[in-house]
Amino acid sequence: MVESIETEPVPLDVASIRKDFPILTNREGLVFLDSAASSQKPTQVLDAMRHYYEFDHANVHRAAYDLAEAATNALEGARRTVARFIGADDQSEVVFTKNATESINLVARSWGAANLGPGDAVVLTHLEHHADIVPWQQLAEERGFEIRWIPLTADTQLDLTDLDRTLDGAKLVGLTAMSNVTGTFTPVQRIVDAAHGAGAVVLLDACQYVPHAATDVGALGVDFAAFSAHKMCGPTGIGVLWGRRDLLDSMPPFLGGGGMILDVRTDGFVPAELPAKFEAGTPPIAEAVGLAAAIEYLEDIGLDRIRAHEARLTAYALRSLTERFGDEITIHGPSEPDQRGGVMSFAYRDIHPHDLSQVLNSHRVCIRPGHHCAKPLMRCLGVGATSRASWYIYNDTEDIDALADAIGESGDFFTI
Ligand SMILES: Cc1ncc(COP(=O)(O)O)c(C=O)c1O
Repeated sequence: MVESIETEPVPLDVASIRKDFPILTNREGLVFLDSAASSQKPTQVLDAMRHYYEFDHANVHRAAYDLAEAATNALEGARRTVARFIGADDQSEVVFTKNATESINLVARSWGAANLGPGDAVVLTHLEHHADIVPWQQLAEERGFEIRWIPLTADTQLDLTDLDRTLDGAKLVGLTAMSNVTGTFTPVQRIVDAAHGAGAVVLLDACQYVPHAATDVGALGVDFAAFSAHKMCGPTGIGVLWGRRDLLDSMPPFLGGGGMILDVRTDGFVPAELPAKFEAGTPPIAEAVGLAAAIEYLEDIGLDRIRAHEARLTAYALRSLTERFGDEITIHGPSEPDQRGGVMSFAYRDIHPHDLSQVLNSHRVCIRPGHHCAKPLMRCLGVGATSRASWYIYNDTEDIDALADAIGESGDFFTI
């Protein structure tokens, strides 16, 4: 997981990175601080998708003409790129889905339905996004297993005091690698070791992690990992489920239809091998090409440099917002910058997050108000909603300053 950076990587050239993102030029003065919801897209990704449609598009697999082979090669090449990027040994362990939400539902509906029943337990944390809560609740209603929760400390780190008891008899742990609300990093390896010791598999929600730091699913020892392309400079409409081959092999198909079978007869069907077994229907081909281009783009910059850049911005934001607003601002989450990623939820005076973000919008500062699909975490924080700013490779300290200025002006606005 994220480790302290001993030799500082070369800082990002943010001015030059910004030129890769047409939207930052097309919408002059935009201060985009909502990448945790979805990142912007560089020309390299847009060009790769356009090139695919202009030169290589046909439907994939089972065709005898060159164009369809080119499209198949594009899809399977993208799968190899994803596998390499996350340290997977075997590209057939990479399943393309619609998004991380579908990836987690796939595990719940396939692995969960085959393995969970009365007397079993699934363990989740209070940091989870609804995408890693609701599928388990839906299944628990049908299958009658228990859901247990890992609680939080006051600064939103996982409280592992009772971990062994919580894991006793558990069959699956659903764990986010980083909170999309507070930015808290979780101790993935420690939980993986404890979960495996208890006989449980671990599903890592890596949505907020893979875009921001080097990720190696083998080294982490997780059993499943889910993430979405649109948060890492890639297109919407494609997500990834990575799973250990033996687990995926043992699981029944999730969706049925074309592409996921070896044979179909009137009395039944035989599922295809991995990964086709889990990819019913026409896959997101252009989106896979875009995801591969996004990965190459991020790799060219360097994941260690990206993490160091975000850590610098996080430290700057914590310091500058606290110095400027003192007791008037409450920043949720860990106070140490190295314990959190580039996401910051805060409350300013008693201004409602929706009001605050509307005033910020009038200064072209885009942040996100609301519960961020993490209502159990909102209850732990004792709030109904937060204001959330999040940064990425195209943000710099000027954006944090613009945020601070706009927050200051909103204070004036609401005082009048
Ligand atoms: C931690 C986390 N998990 C899951 C999701 C769901 O991602 P998607 O909407 O792309 O399926 C998100 C999206 O915000 C997230 O931040």
